[in-house]
Amino acid sequence: MMGFLCCLFLLVVGVSSKSQVVGGEVNDGATLLSINRELDVPGWGVNNTYYCNWTGIHCDLNQSFVVRLDLSRLQLRGNVTLISELKALRRLDLSSNNFYGPIPSSFGNLSELEFLDLSLNKFGGFIPREMGRLRNLRYLNLSNNMLVGEIPDELKSLKKLDDFQISTNKLNGSIPYWVGNLTNLRVFTAYENQLVGEVPDNLGSVSELTLLNLHSNQLEGSIPKSIFALGKLEVLVLTQNKFSGDIPESIGNCKGLSSVRIGNNDLVGVIPKAIGNVSGLTYFEVDNNHLSGDIVSEFAQCSNLTLLNLASNGFTGVIPPALGQLMNLQELILSGNSLFGDIPNSILACKNLNKLDLSNNRFNGTIPSEICNMSRLQYLLLDQNSIKGEIPHEIGNCVKLLELQMGSNYLTGSIPSEIGHIRNLQIALNLSFNHLHGPLPPELGKLDKLVSLDVSNNQLSGNIPPALKGMLSLIEVNFSNNLLAGPVPSFVPFQKSPNSSFFGNKGLCGDPLSFPCENINNPDGKNYHHRVSYRIILAVIGSGLAVFISVTIVVLLFMMRERQEKASKTAGIVDGAASNQPTIIAGNVFVENLKQAIDLDAVVKATLKESNKLNCGTFSTVYKAIMPSGLILSVKRLKSMDRTIIHHQSKMIRELERLSKLCHENLVRPIGFVIYEDVALLLHHYFLNGTLAQLLHESTKQSEYRPDWPTRLSIATGVAEGLAFLHHVAIIHLDISSGNVLLDADFKPLVGEIEISKLLDPSKGTASISAVAGSFGYIPPEYAYTMQVTAPGNVYSYGVVLLEILTTRLPVDEEFGEGVDLVKWVHGAPSRGETPEQILDARLSTVSFGWRKEMLAALKVALLCTDSTPAKRPKMKKVVEMLQEIKQN
Ligand SMILES: *[C@@H]1O[C@H](CO)[C@@H](O)[C@H](O)[C@H]1NC(C)=O
Ligand SMILES: *[C@@H]1O[C@H](CO)[C@@H](O)[C@H](O)[C@H]1NC(C)=O
Ligand SMILES: *[C@@H]1O[C@H](CO)[C@@H](O)[C@H](O)[C@H]1NC(C)=O
Ligand SMILES: *[C@@H]1O[C@H](CO)[C@@H](O)[C@H](O)[C@H]1NC(C)=O
Ligand SMILES: *[C@@H]1O[C@H](CO)[C@@H](O)[C@H](O)[C@H]1NC(C)=O
Ligand SMILES: *[C@@H]1O[C@H](CO)[C@@H](O)[C@H](O)[C@H]1NC(C)=O
Ligand SMILES: *[C@@H]1O[C@H](CO)[C@@H](O)[C@H](O)[C@H]1NC(C)=O
Ligand SMILES: *[C@@H]1O[C@H](CO)[C@@H](O)[C@H](O)[C@H]1NC(C)=O
Ligand SMILES: *[C@@H]1O[C@H](CO)[C@@H](O)[C@H](O)[C@H]1NC(C)=O
Repeated sequence: MMGFLCCLFLLVVGVSSKSQVVGGEVNDGATLLSINRELDVPGWGVNNTYYCNWTGIHCDLNQSFVVRLDLSRLQLRGNVTLISELKALRRLDLSSNNFYGPIPSSFGNLSELEFLDLSLNKFGGFIPREMGRLRNLRYLNLSNNMLVGEIPDELKSLKKLDDFQISTNKLNGSIPYWVGNLTNLRVFTAYENQLVGEVPDNLGSVSELTLLNLHSNQLEGSIPKSIFALGKLEVLVLTQNKFSGDIPESIGNCKGLSSVRIGNNDLVGVIPKAIGNVSGLTYFEVDNNHLSGDIVSEFAQCSNLTLLNLASNGFTGVIPPALGQLMNLQELILSGNSLFGDIPNSILACKNLNKLDLSNNRFNGTIPSEICNMSRLQYLLLDQNSIKGEIPHEIGNCVKLLELQMGSNYLTGSIPSEIGHIRNLQIALNLSFNHLHGPLPPELGKLDKLVSLDVSNNQLSGNIPPALKGMLSLIEVNFSNNLLAGPVPSFVPFQKSPNSSFFGNKGLCGDPLSFPCENINNPDGKNYHHRVSYRIILAVIGSGLAVFISVTIVVLLFMMRERQEKASKTAGIVDGAASNQPTIIAGNVFVENLKQAIDLDAVVKATLKESNKLNCGTFSTVYKAIMPSGLILSVKRLKSMDRTIIHHQSKMIRELERLSKLCHENLVRPIGFVIYEDVALLLHHYFLNGTLAQLLHESTKQSEYRPDWPTRLSIATGVAEGLAFLHHVAIIHLDISSGNVLLDADFKPLVGEIEISKLLDPSKGTASISAVAGSFGYIPPEYAYTMQVTAPGNVYSYGVVLLEILTTRLPVDEEFGEGVDLVKWVHGAPSRGETPEQILDARLSTVSFGWRKEMLAALKVALLCTDSTPAKRPKMKKVVEMLQEIKQN
């Protein structure tokens, strides 16, 4: 039998090489061996010369020519020119590797090519003109590289292009007119480039365009009507450009248009009433333009509308009561317009509303007492209006609120003590610049997560209640310009506040005021003024410095991305210049007892050495840094800064400081930061045992330590506990994966990358969708539709990690078959007639009856977590309980 196979094999090789000699063709086998010598592809057989069986290779029916080559995500680098000798290639995927240098012009010789994906590499230089010879090309993806220059006109011959993606490069010039002549074009993305000029006014007129994403360029002119002409558009993203003119009335042709994001442009005119015809609309974002007129009540017909963001325009009139019909609305953002009138009662019917932002308008009604009927409200932002009347007592029913902004209105009455019921309140409570009187309710002291409290500029009287010492998370406080009297309670956040936070009251005394309480009846006026002015000067200098630093950070981080790309090109030079230690602009260690042990200069130095590099994550590169004190740190260098971050930069350091206080043994907290030149470094503890991904997937290969089931269960439980705590403090993790779970010396798991959720906000504008969706294989299915990472989405990603732990398989693996990931593979087991035992890692489940039983129970939990319906997934807290129960039984 073996002999026969061998003969057959020789025969096949013999025949094919003969026919190749006859036909004068290049022998693909020889080419593949050369490619392997150049690229060293993992899994390409040294012993097995039957190349059609090598990973990522598909041959034609005659088994003589390679027709598909998939080398994605293999961390390859090297010269890819040789691939152009595989003349029969129809599909070539080199995405997510480390290829750099120019795209070989000889790729233009792959005349059979239908699919070419070179995305997520570091290819530079121009797009080769020779690619215009790929007449059969239907899918072209060059996104996420470092390509420069213009889109070459030769590509106009690619008449069959269906999907054309060139986003996140450094391309300039304009979008050529011929793009609009491509009769099959459905998907076109060119976001995050330096494109200028107008979008061709024929784009979408001859092809059924479904997705157009051009955000973050310098495009101008009007939004072409043509893109709506055939009515097939589903996603339109033009955020952050210089588009002017109106929103075309023809937008109403596109019933299936689900996402419109055209904020940060120079658009004028009104919102066409035809928007009501766009029945599939879920996401409508036009903030920061010059739009005007009324908010059209036709939005009420878009029953799937989830987000409506009209902020910072010139809209007038009232909120149309009909918007109350929008049962799916989660965010209504109308800030920075000239809207007036009441908050209509009908709006209270929007049961899913999570964010209501009416700030900075002219609303002149009262706050409806039933406001908390919207029981999911997390953000209620009503500041800078002319709202009258009292704050309703019922406000205490908004138990999910994270932020309550009511500053700069005409509110009267006293502060309802029920505010103390809003135990989730944590970002801010701001009641400043109103006409509130009466005492400060001691119940405020129950707000133990609140970071910022501002009640300044009212007529509040009485003492500052000592009960406010219960506000354990407080960082910022402002009691100034009221009628408060008596001693400032001794409470670290109060004494650390600038004394300006207490100024302008009737008779406050004690620290931090330079006005001791015993002097209250006999003030030494002269001395007092002396010290006050001295302190004012210090405070002014201090705040000036703070402004300077935050402005510097904004500017520097803005430049960071470009510089980093330059730096990576000239990495050699940077290494050579490492002796010139860069100057640190800002830096801090948040943890008091580590201040001595950490030398920020040594931190910077460590990140300049390539040999200290530990790994490259989705958002950052991580280095190991050994301090002179012997302490070992893990230092994260932020990369590929998203443009959204820039707008929130001044908050970054404060957020880091806050996160550093999050106390849970299963979370990796930041312990400090350094900013030098255009680089931001975040400091963390170094964990000896690497990541969970390494433990599960690398150790099995090298047959090193393989974690047993009890260890795995305790890791799974620890990760769940860390995430449950994050959800408890209303933080959604943006990138849960086994690669982001670190293990300490005792294999205790710690969830990392928690900062990212605070530094990147997917709901805000321009973040490219893929950049915030998390890691491949862990992204919940609903994300494609909602574009929001949610708590149930986190549960899904956690479920994937739990499946990895149970099966010792990767979340995405070719073995599962085309389009099947770990989740689908596991859920599909019953229909394939496989028992759960065949899914579990048999090396563990066959060890003992007890282990097997526990693994089956954990598998049930994982199946619940990865349910395709978000509402059916358990809460993280429940997951912890279920896993703990398994352990106990
Ligand atoms: C290849 O062959 C060598 C010797 O013939 C053997 O030691 C090695 O294990 C083989 N490798 C694989 C991957 O089969
Ligand atoms: C190629 O792989 C298939 C399936 O794995 C196997 O049946 C076949 O024998 C292999 N052929 C050769 C020549 O190695
Ligand atoms: C396979 O080989 C035969 C004869 O050599 C040839 O006629 C046929 O076109 C080839 N088929 C493919 C798919 O290459
Ligand atoms: C890659 O290899 C080809 C020959 O196969 C050579 O012509 C080319 O210069 C090489 N490119 C680089 C960047 O080294
Ligand atoms: C493309 O193929 C032609 C022959 O078909 C050859 O002359 C030319 O050198 C190739 N181009 C490149 C850039 O390799
Ligand atoms: C690149 O685009 C193609 C379609 O042209 C798509 O199938 C592929 O998934 C994209 N690659 C990546 C890495 O997103
Ligand atoms: C696009 O198509 C139109 C109509 O067929 C033709 O007149 C025009 O020349 C084409 N433009 C380009 C740049 O190919
Ligand atoms: C609203 O969304 C649901 C769920 O995706 C979908 O089935 C339905 O068709 C959408 N409604 C409209 C009017 O598009
Ligand atoms: C609110 O303002 C509008 C426009 O200025 C005015 O017409 C209306 O009477 C005001 N309503 C109240 C209750 O003050």
